[in-house]
Amino acid sequence: MRADIQQAVQKMTEQIVAWRRDFHRHPEIAYQEERTSRVIREFLEREGFEVEPYARTGLRGMMTGNGPGPCIALRADMDALPITEQGDKEYISQNPGAAHSCAHDGHMAIMMGVAKIVADRRSQWSGRVAFLFQPSEEHLPGGAKPMIDEGALEGVDALFGLHLWQSLPTGQVGMVKGPMMAQPDTFDLVIKGRGGHGSMPQQTVDPIVTAAQLIINCQSIVSRNCDPLKPLVVSFGKIAGGDIYNVIPDQVKLMGTVRTFDAAIQELAERRVREIVADTCRTFGATAELEYHRGYPPVVNDPAMIDFAVETLADTLGPERTAWIDPVMGGEDFAYFLQERPGAFMFFGMGDGMEYPHHHPAFDIDERALPEAALFMTSLVLDFLEKRPLDQ
Ligand code: NI
Repeated sequence: MRADIQQAVQKMTEQIVAWRRDFHRHPEIAYQEERTSRVIREFLEREGFEVEPYARTGLRGMMTGNGPGPCIALRADMDALPITEQGDKEYISQNPGAAHSCAHDGHMAIMMGVAKIVADRRSQWSGRVAFLFQPSEEHLPGGAKPMIDEGALEGVDALFGLHLWQSLPTGQVGMVKGPMMAQPDTFDLVIKGRGGHGSMPQQTVDPIVTAAQLIINCQSIVSRNCDPLKPLVVSFGKIAGGDIYNVIPDQVKLMGTVRTFDAAIQELAERRVREIVADTCRTFGATAELEYHRGYPPVVNDPAMIDFAVETLADTLGPERTAWIDPVMGGEDFAYFLQERPGAFMFFGMGDGMEYPHHHPAFDIDERALPEAALFMTSLVLDFLEKRPLDQ
């Protein structure tokens, strides 16, 4: 079947690129993916999938083959980012304030290509295939969790997802066994003191000095509280307070992020942030308003499913395509699916000639990655249904 699949992908390449460019021209941000959802629904129905809505604009397309067997799902995220695209590409965003600057347009186009090829060969495979098109990956709390809560994983045995990845050369596939992406928590903090004249600090409660000490104290969470063999990041991304040389302000605002791969370290970090904020403010007579937001859980790949994917990748594109990479500190709500079912998330390289990173207004992808990714994912589906790795 391999040569046949390769031919089918070749024939579909133009269509896959056209889908991607169409989504790129018409980006929609989290939970506004109305047009996107309509295009995908019409396509899936035309190809004979049973389509059901999930999480407002999300969809699941399910198809049964020629007999009983396991069910494998693939997931693509649908949302664009709330930024205005820059550049002069022919398929530039037609919606000011929205841009597919994270390659989710490519993810959808790849999965549609896979769906078409798999549907055309329905009589040649047994089991079931589900395509999960998920809204709102970029915007917390994300669309994955509500899709799961509404039953999108019912009947699904395993699932895979990929992210097109600018920092890998085109065609290299980044693989990680176990924890792959971090839990990206965030926090907002307001330190409230009492302002006054800079020449009479004794009459004030200085939130700037309090903030300075608090930031230093938070550095000890990583260096003194956390096991040095476990990754943890605590970073402040914003500090704002005061306007002029000689006035001590009433308050200072801070924002920050905490990133981990481990639930116990995450608990520890949140607890220590809360303690240090409260205790440092108390030391200086200030008060604190802290809002701590839990991010997506860490993305943790099933090692057996990575082994399985690496084997398929070697058989389709070649063994040299596997790139064993280090985990990244970014977050991804595919994590929720992997908490429920065995599966894996992978980075598909598309960085050749692409100078702008993900989320940059001039971001673009090397489209040569699209048919390669479609070939790989189609083979993954068909191999899974044939080899049934979960039964072994
Ligand atoms: Ni993304």
